[in-house]
Order: sequence, then structure tokens, then C-alpha cells
Amino acid sequence: MKEIFENVFEHEGRILTRNRVPGKQVYGERLLNINGKEYRAWNPRRSKLCAAIKNGLKNNPIKHDSEILYLGASTGTTPSHISDVLTDGGIYAVEISAHSMKFLLRFCEKRENVIPILADARQPKNYQEIGKVDVIYEDVASPEQADILLKNSRMFLRKGGYAMIAIKSQSIDVTQSPEETYAQVKEEISSELELIEEVALEPYEKSHLFLVLRKK
Ligand SMILES: C[S@@+](CC[C@H](N)C(=O)[O-])C[C@H]1O[C@@H](n2cnc3c(N)ncnc32)[C@H](O)[C@@H]1O
Repeated sequence: MKEIFENVFEHEGRILTRNRVPGKQVYGERLLNINGKEYRAWNPRRSKLCAAIKNGLKNNPIKHDSEILYLGASTGTTPSHISDVLTDGGIYAVEISAHSMKFLLRFCEKRENVIPILADARQPKNYQEIGKVDVIYEDVASPEQADILLKNSRMFLRKGGYAMIAIKSQSIDVTQSPEETYAQVKEEISSELELIEEVALEPYEKSHLFLVLRKK
């Protein structure tokens, strides 16, 4: 087994994180016992961060002690693996849907490093008390993806901190090509966020581009 990023492992072609809550699955993922420790198989078809890792991501700013603002937490698939990685850090998990939040709350009971926030990421003032973070991760299916990232970055991201965004071209503009949409988003954020890396998510996700950025 090889540690490819802090607390992220590769074993026999699978990406794994060490299970923070042994014996418990979050989304029906496989649990594996390796040398007496329990790991969760991270599914690249269910998580864009895992898809980016499978497609060769080189820069993962999520460290064991990072403070993360996660926008679009849904029912917690990717946040749960980040929660495994953060042995000494924490995640503020923002989600607009009360229905998804019901599931998120259920797993947060067992994962005390995830703080669920029922809120609209377009209105960051509503959760301003969280203070500064090291990384913002955005995976909201919204035409305002770029604007949401900028608003949250201005308010919460430390200077030199990182942003990760999964751009879904079909949610932004179905009338133009994905490449045009990606270029438009990159241009919109470029004055405040420096592009560090980009990874296409096919074959795991169609028409998605994953970016890693650093606050200027
Ligand atoms: C593709 S899903 C996220 C999946 C999740 N990131 C994962 O990998 O496990 C997108 C989520 O963004 C949420 N969302 C959409 N607009 C939002 C907004 N303005 N503020 C917060 N969440 C939003 C949706 O309710 C949905 O749960």
C-alpha cells in the first residue's frame, strides 16, 4: 500500500482512506481490512475528488490538519473521505437542500470533525462566523459557480490558501461547448485565484473540469 497524499492511499488499483468510524459505511462503499486497520474504498464514480486523483491529480492541498470550507456537501460522500483524511483538522459542510442535510446530519453524529451548515453558498454572510480556512472545496451544480467561489474566497480563504472546484459545464451554459464554459470560468476567477492545476474528469464524470487554485 502506498500513501499518495497525506492520509490517502493506493492499494491494488483502489484509492482508500482510513475509516474514522470503523465498521461504518457512508454510501455503501467497500470496507477493507489491511494489516489490522480498516480502510474505505473511495469510489471515483461517486466523488469528483477521487476521479481527479485517479486521473493523476498532482496537487492536493488537503493536509491532515487543514480547515476546509466545503460548498455543496450533499449527503456527504466526498466530505466523508475528507473527514477520514483530516485526523487533526475539520470541515464546514455547507448544503442548501434540507433533504440532503438529513443524511449528512446522520453521519456527522459519528464524525465530529464535520460541521454541517444548512445554507445557500451564494450568501456567505449567513455563515460568516466560521472564520478563515485553508481550503475551499466547491462542488455545487449552479450557473453561478465562479461567483460563489469568489464570494466565499474573499470572505474565508487565507492569503495563499487553496481552492478546489469541480466545474460542471452543463449547469453553467448548455448552449456553448464545455471548453468555452471552462475558459469563461477560469477568466472570471483569474484576477483573484491563480490556476495551479486542471484535471478533466472523464471517464468518471462527463463535461466536468477539476481545478486547483491558489489565492493571490
Ligand atoms: C453534485 S452535488 C455534490 C456532491 C458532493 N460534493 C460529493 O461529492 O459528495 C451538488 C450539491 O450542491 C448543492 N447546492 C446547489 N446549489 C447550492 C447552493 N447555492 N448552496 C449550497 N449548496 C448548493 C445541491 O443541493 C447538491 O447537493
